[in-house]
Amino acid sequence: MANSLHVTLFLLLSLLAAHKALASSHNHGLHLRSLEFSLFQHETTNKTGFVIVEGVTGPGITRTTTPFGTIFVYLNNLTTTISASSRLVGIAEGVSITSSFDGFRSISVAHITLEIHGYRGTVSVVGVVHNTKPAVLPVVGGTGDFLFVQGYVKSTLVDLEALNVMYKIDFHLYWPPYATNSPN
Ligand SMILES: *[C@@H]1O[C@H](CO)[C@@H](O)[C@H](O)[C@H]1NC(C)=O
Ligand SMILES: *[C@@H]1O[C@H](CO)[C@@H](O)[C@H](O)[C@H]1NC(C)=O
Repeated sequence: MANSLHVTLFLLLSLLAAHKALASSHNHGLHLRSLEFSLFQHETTNKTGFVIVEGVTGPGITRTTTPFGTIFVYLNNLTTTISASSRLVGIAEGVSITSSFDGFRSISVAHITLEIHGYRGTVSVVGVVHNTKPAVLPVVGGTGDFLFVQGYVKSTLVDLEALNVMYKIDFHLYWPPYATNSPN
């Protein structure tokens, strides 16, 4: 009885430790820090995201396509769950320019302000996204607690309902050794 209680407790503690390691930052050898977490990005057409310039050729503006050359600008909330009213932990300011003639792909640049897991600062990402398929965008830098940060984000469309578009953003952030004493 006591033994099985011990085993149960041990298992619980191991699970907790594993969960903590998954959800927060951890040290590798050589003081390399990393941080992994997921957030949800909420976009509302004509409220937080707008077509500023309509492109020149290809399909018209549909739910999933925009003409080649279209410039789209957004300022979207990032929250901890899929519910737009869940805790706000970030803001994504970005621009995308439609770069394929079928209207599905665009060059995307975003500046993401974060306040999460005790970290405060910004992360910048750049890359090409597909309007309906998951995209991986390299992190090109950061500021504040994210100064010198490297890694990538994975953006996945999770819901497209009426004017609301939701994306899950998985952050995979790594600090190089020289970033250990980064200023704020
Ligand atoms: C957004 O606004 C533009 C310009 O007013 C309009 O043409 C377009 O139909 C609107 N989009 C939606 C989905 O309401
Ligand atoms: C973004 O979050 C703030 C704070 O929760 C809220 O006041 C605002 O309405 C949100 N923006 C949108 C477009 O939902």
